[in-house]
Amino acid sequence: MMDPQKGLTGLRDLIAQTRAAGRLVEVDAPADPVLEIAHIVHRHDGRPVLFSDVTGYPGWQVVAGVASAREYFAMALGVPVEEMIHRLAAALENPVPPPVVGDAPCQEVVEPDVDLTRLPILRHFPFDGGPYVTAGIVVLNDPDYGRNVSFHRLLRLDGRRFAARVVERRGTDTALRKSAGDLPVAICIGNSLPVLLAASMSPPMGVDELAIANALAPTPVVPCKTVPLHVPADCELVLEGRLTHATAPEGPFVDLTETVDFVRPGPVVEIDCITHRRNPIYQALLPGGLEHKLLMGMPKEPSIFAAVNQVCRCVNVAITPGGASWLHAVVQIEKRGPDDGRAAIEAAFRGHGSLKHVVVVDTDVNPYDPAEVEWAIATRFQADRDLVVLTDQPGSSLDPSGTHRPGKKARTAKMGLDATIPWGADRAAFEKVRYAE
Ligand SMILES: Cc1cc2nc3c(=O)[nH]c(=O)nc-3n(C[C@H](O)[C@H](O)[C@H](O)COP(=O)(O)O)c2cc1C
Repeated sequence: MMDPQKGLTGLRDLIAQTRAAGRLVEVDAPADPVLEIAHIVHRHDGRPVLFSDVTGYPGWQVVAGVASAREYFAMALGVPVEEMIHRLAAALENPVPPPVVGDAPCQEVVEPDVDLTRLPILRHFPFDGGPYVTAGIVVLNDPDYGRNVSFHRLLRLDGRRFAARVVERRGTDTALRKSAGDLPVAICIGNSLPVLLAASMSPPMGVDELAIANALAPTPVVPCKTVPLHVPADCELVLEGRLTHATAPEGPFVDLTETVDFVRPGPVVEIDCITHRRNPIYQALLPGGLEHKLLMGMPKEPSIFAAVNQVCRCVNVAITPGGASWLHAVVQIEKRGPDDGRAAIEAAFRGHGSLKHVVVVDTDVNPYDPAEVEWAIATRFQADRDLVVLTDQPGSSLDPSGTHRPGKKARTAKMGLDATIPWGADRAAFEKVRYAE
């Protein structure tokens, strides 16, 4: 465990770990935040990429891809990959309030004036609505539930304002609807993986995501300079300001499903103060890339795991890349009763509201291997016995095939496949022969 006073390195620590492991791609040639950097990151998707010469932004480095493979999360949490779901589930169960420190690296420099055009915010695609912050987490206080932390993509409008994408009825939207005036916010960029993981979790209202992060790894916080909020002390950059009730067109932008999300009105964020570390590293995140997928999907695995374990014995959960790491999951159970498969399907949909399709498999089927999962469907599943279809369910705004009405929650059909060996059947007839090692 790192000493919060001495070792406040977070993202920088992980960069050093991936360099030592020979995974870090280092780009010393000049690279432009307008399209070029996104293209280079895409070419290396699955590896962290550090740019040390950012065209037009002297003194800034840019990093992306630090969350683009399960192994980097395992590095950051100090556990093997297959252990991570248990660490995440434990942190979700037992959050630990973060210690408050007096001064912090993220405030080594307090900018005299606010000019967002002096930050290396990437343009990812020529058709985007503009430069977008994609790895920014928004810290705010809900008057009833306390601190909430979540990701919001931010379209830079000018030197002081963004338009934010705020999905309806989640923490940020709920807090803004309650607030008569502007809502104080702090946007943190350049965070540790535990902080990024926690920010993409949807714990019950009132559970502080920074306490979940602190349960995963030491995450001290520091008071902001101009708003009544605390932020991770070791993040790279903090934009302090207000989420307003004014709106501006947000989009077009590529989202998780690698399809272009449509333009809609987004709340305007006004920035009043910028602080950052010396020699700051701006964190970018490729929209629709592996990092986006893992950060969206992985934090949902422990909540599905917890929900399924309430109805039967769940061993593991994989949110699969083929389902854009959001819409599809494979749930592995130790079957102990005839209805466990169906119960696991229904529980999985409770554990992750945006889940669209789920396959339940036995312990001898690797949930991370799509070929093994398909084999289980081919040899253990009958559509007229083991299929669950739910119509007109709340769905994901990210699924273009769903029913989308402005300002309303999307609607979808959901499907579950119980691909476990039928209860009471002769198991030997269903098990795959294995050649002796
Ligand atoms: C990389 C990434 C980008 C995201 N972008 C957005 C976004 O632009 N708008 C949004 O409302 N949610 C976005 N999310 C999802 C929320 O951050 C996530 O659902 C969060 O858990 C909501 O938390 P809450 O329920 O506590 O408010 C994103 C998540 C990730 C991992």
